[in-house]
Amino acid sequence: MAPPSLDFAGKAIIVTGAASGIGAATARLLGAAGANVIVADRCGEAAERVASEIAGSVACQTDVTDPAACKAMVEVARQKFGRLDGAFNNAGITEVSLLKDAPIPETHLLPLEIWRGVLSVDLDGVFYCLQAELPLMLETGGGAIVNTTSLQAHISYPRTAPYTAAKHGVLGLTKTIAKEYGGQGIRCNAVSPGVVDTPLTSDVIHLPDYKDMLLAPIPLKRFAEPLDIARAALWLLSDQSAYVNGAVIAADGGYLA
Ligand SMILES: NC(=O)c1ccc[n+]([C@@H]2O[C@H](COP(=O)([O-])OP(=O)(O)OC[C@H]3O[C@@H](n4cnc5c(N)ncnc54)[C@H](O)[C@@H]3O)[C@@H](O)[C@H]2O)c1
Repeated sequence: MAPPSLDFAGKAIIVTGAASGIGAATARLLGAAGANVIVADRCGEAAERVASEIAGSVACQTDVTDPAACKAMVEVARQKFGRLDGAFNNAGITEVSLLKDAPIPETHLLPLEIWRGVLSVDLDGVFYCLQAELPLMLETGGGAIVNTTSLQAHISYPRTAPYTAAKHGVLGLTKTIAKEYGGQGIRCNAVSPGVVDTPLTSDVIHLPDYKDMLLAPIPLKRFAEPLDIARAALWLLSDQSAYVNGAVIAADGGYLA
C-alpha cells in the first residue's frame, strides 16, 4: 500500500486571512508541502510579505465582505494556476476587533454595527468565498474546503452573540456544502481552534487576570500556537482525509472534552 501523502505539489490552494496568525502559519505550511498558495487578506501589504516567503505563491488583497473581491480572488487562482484544489476560509474578527478597548456591552445594548460588522466578516465572508470558489473547483476536478470555526461553534460565553452566532453558522454552512457537493468531488470540513496565541487574542490572553482562567479548562495546559491549527487544517486539505466530509476537527487541547 502506498504511504499516505501530504504532498501538495501542483495544487492551488486559497487561504484567507493569510497575512497573520493561523492563516499565515497554514499558508507557510502549505507552501512547504509544495502547494501554490493564494495568500489572500484584506491587508495587501502584509499578504505580500507572507507571500514573499513562499515559493510559487501569489498575494491577493481581498476583503471577504465584498462578494466581487472574493470572485476576483478566485480569478487570480484561475489566471495564475489554472485551477483550484483547496480553500481555507479562515479570515475572521471578533467583537473586540471592532470595539477596540471599549467594554463589550450586553446583547440588548450591542450596537447594530457591531452585530453586522462581525457577521459580515465571519459568516457572510465565508459564504461569499464559497460561492466564488465552488465553480472553479467544480470546473477543475473537485477539491477540499476547510472553514475556520471556533470553540464558539459549540459553546458560548456571555457578550459574544455575534461571534458565537457567526461561528455556529459557519459550522452549519460546512455541513450543507459537504452534503451538496460531496457527490461532485468536493469535501468540506471545519477546523475548530481553541485558544490560540495570535494578534487576534494576544492582548487579552496574557493578562494576568485572564491567563489562568483561560488555561484552567485546557487539559494540555497551554494555548495553541498557530502551527497547531495549521497542521489540522493541512490534514483536512490533503488527500489523507479523503473520506472525511462534513466533519469538524477540534484543535483545542481537549477543551471541549
Ligand atoms: N486566535 C484564536 O484564539 C482563535 C480561536 C478560535 C478561532 N479563531 C479563528 O481563526 C481565524 C483566524 O484568526 P487568527 O487568530 O489567526 O487572527 P489574526 O487576527 O491573527 O488573523 C486574521 C487575519 O484575517 C484578516 N482579515 C480580517 N478581516 C478580513 C476581511 N474582511 N477580509 C480579509 N481578511 C480579513 C486580518 O487582516 C488578519 O490578517 C478567525 O476566523 C478566528 O475567528 C481564532
